[in-house]
Amino acid sequence: MKRLFAVLLAGLVSSCVSSPINDVEARGTSLIPSAAPTPTPTPQPSDGWRVDKNKQSRNVHNFFKAYGWLKKDDAIPNTKLPAAIRKIQKVLKVPQTGIYDEHMETVMSKPRCGTIPQYDPSESLDNSTLHSRFVLWGPKWDHTSLTYRFVNYTADLPAAQQRSLVSAAFARWTQIAPITVTEAPSNAPRADIHIRFMSMGPTEDVYAFTNMIADGLALSSGLINITFNDDFQWNDDRLFNYTAVHEIGHALGLSHSKVEEAIMFPFFEGDIRPIHPDDQAGVHSIYGWKNPTWSRIDSNVASKGVIQISSASSTSGIIDGLYQLRSTGQILWYNSSGTWTSVDNNRDTIQIAGANNFLYQRHTDGTIWKLTAGSSTWRQINPASTNVIEIYAAADQLYMRRKDGWVARYSGSGQTWSTIQQPSTPSSMQLAASDSRTLWNLLANGDLVRSEYPYTADGWQVVDQNPSNVAIAIGGEEFYKLQSDGSIVWLDSKEWYWKIIEDKGSKSVYAVGSYVYSRHGDGSVWRYTGTEGVWEMLDSRADSSMVVGDRKGSVWEMVSGGDIYKLVS
Ligand SMILES: *[C@@H]1O[C@H](CO)[C@@H](O)[C@H](O)[C@H]1NC(C)=O
Ligand SMILES: *[C@@H]1O[C@H](CO)[C@@H](O)[C@H](O)[C@H]1NC(C)=O
Ligand SMILES: *[C@@H]1O[C@H](CO)[C@@H](O)[C@H](O)[C@H]1NC(C)=O
Ligand SMILES: *[C@@H]1O[C@H](CO)[C@@H](O)[C@H](O)[C@H]1NC(C)=O
Ligand SMILES: *[C@@H]1O[C@H](CO)[C@@H](O)[C@H](O)[C@H]1NC(C)=O
Ligand SMILES: [Zn+2]
Repeated sequence: MKRLFAVLLAGLVSSCVSSPINDVEARGTSLIPSAAPTPTPTPQPSDGWRVDKNKQSRNVHNFFKAYGWLKKDDAIPNTKLPAAIRKIQKVLKVPQTGIYDEHMETVMSKPRCGTIPQYDPSESLDNSTLHSRFVLWGPKWDHTSLTYRFVNYTADLPAAQQRSLVSAAFARWTQIAPITVTEAPSNAPRADIHIRFMSMGPTEDVYAFTNMIADGLALSSGLINITFNDDFQWNDDRLFNYTAVHEIGHALGLSHSKVEEAIMFPFFEGDIRPIHPDDQAGVHSIYGWKNPTWSRIDSNVASKGVIQISSASSTSGIIDGLYQLRSTGQILWYNSSGTWTSVDNNRDTIQIAGANNFLYQRHTDGTIWKLTAGSSTWRQINPASTNVIEIYAAADQLYMRRKDGWVARYSGSGQTWSTIQQPSTPSSMQLAASDSRTLWNLLANGDLVRSEYPYTADGWQVVDQNPSNVAIAIGGEEFYKLQSDGSIVWLDSKEWYWKIIEDKGSKSVYAVGSYVYSRHGDGSVWRYTGTEGVWEMLDSRADSSMVVGDRKGSVWEMVSGGDIYKLVS
């Protein structure tokens, strides 16, 4: 398996390899295995325990305690350390070698949350089950209008700033859950949640912890303290924001998630991230959804479709946002104050596409037009032609699919396109691009091929041959395909294997950033939580016809009849 991957990569790097893969041998099979490679055999403990044994052991213990896998004063026997490390590696989704490696060291050297949930025997070292997803603390609030107050402040920042940072952190959760939170005056005798700063001593590496006393199933007022370690520098607002959002997650009833990208993961890896679908699924499972869950932002029978333009980088571009095309040819942009504003109105427009701060429109006569940020005029980039059937924009590139089955790529200037010859007779069914150099092409017979710039005729690599491949989607670095049985398959591009993340029922797949959505045959819309097989239903109405999302996790859908909705929970 590894060898095949190596061949594939070698072919990609040099696109002039004449016949990189034996076509006969490959036909009918996927060139990518459909299971994770077998883990390397367990090495002798002595192999992995050369360097700073004590620190490694301490990190492993801290990790276990952060998840309630270990009783408060218990220690993992040395003989069981490799097994413990494998369990951590399973969470971190790295090969389970049982050797404490660099990646573990990197993750576990980050500032750590000191919240320690109750010991859970079902998750102990001897039990192999591991659901990589959110974990609930257990008790929850019996009322939904919560209060908090500051017991005291850190001297690192003006108090007013701390209050506004914490208020914004609460808002991140109240935006998606049917709860309200207000700040009680600091002289109030009691609030539901108390926030304080306390020195924890020079050797303590936890940035904060939340402790709670729960009587039975309900969280009790005044018994939840969020304690920030005042030995940390709180004038770093990334750390402050992250810590506040994370600890508030605890105060609302979430324990530590096993999804590394989630806010509720116990280590702060340095970036302030949006609340992950896993966190959302967790808080929804406690408090339900806001009502209404979706808010209608347009209602017009002429709406034909919506697109979302998201920049590749985390900073948003001027052209980023939600656009709709009407059957009258009008293009409208949903501006940041929530108003649809006309961008163009031309009855010949039949398709819009966009990426990386450019918006494109295609006309019935095959002409293609481009709008650049900061300019108010559309520039024609393709002459009239009966050969154009679709345009596709991704990364900083624009491609077209043609009636003759071939694909072309816009040169970036004038009206010049370069034709990319197909690998074989079947025509292109769908294009996807993971970056500005790599083009994926799903052919009508289900073959999935890939090429690298400059896309020479013999540069195509057959990645997968499966007649049941019906659609592909790329979000960020992640590649997904939809099969005719309704399953969604993710490509693990590190370990290089296919993994089914949805069994059946899917009719379309849409990916953006690290989010992936599935629309089922019954019209329901689902979001992948990051855990194999676990999807959260975002909409159960049976009439959705299209779903788009952005890099921050916002979602819009169009339902039959042309109404456009935004997810508000
Ligand atoms: C394994 O989990 C089960 C519950 O799923 C629990 O009853 C049992 O005690 C656990 N085993 C150990 C060794 O903790
Ligand atoms: C805040 O209050 C706690 C007691 O709840 C105390 O231990 C801590 O030192 C105080 N911190 C500051 C910065 O005053
Ligand atoms: C929270 O802190 C207060 C003092 O500010 C203390 O009286 C109380 O016991 C603490 N509660 C918990 C659960 O630690
Ligand atoms: C932290 O939160 C505040 C308040 O929402 C915001 O103004 C600031 O940009 C955030 N900082 C970072 C680094 O996200
Ligand atoms: C959005 O459009 C409305 C109506 O054209 C306009 O009043 C408002 O200023 C626009 N907002 C932004 C942020 O462009
Ligand atoms: Zn925590």
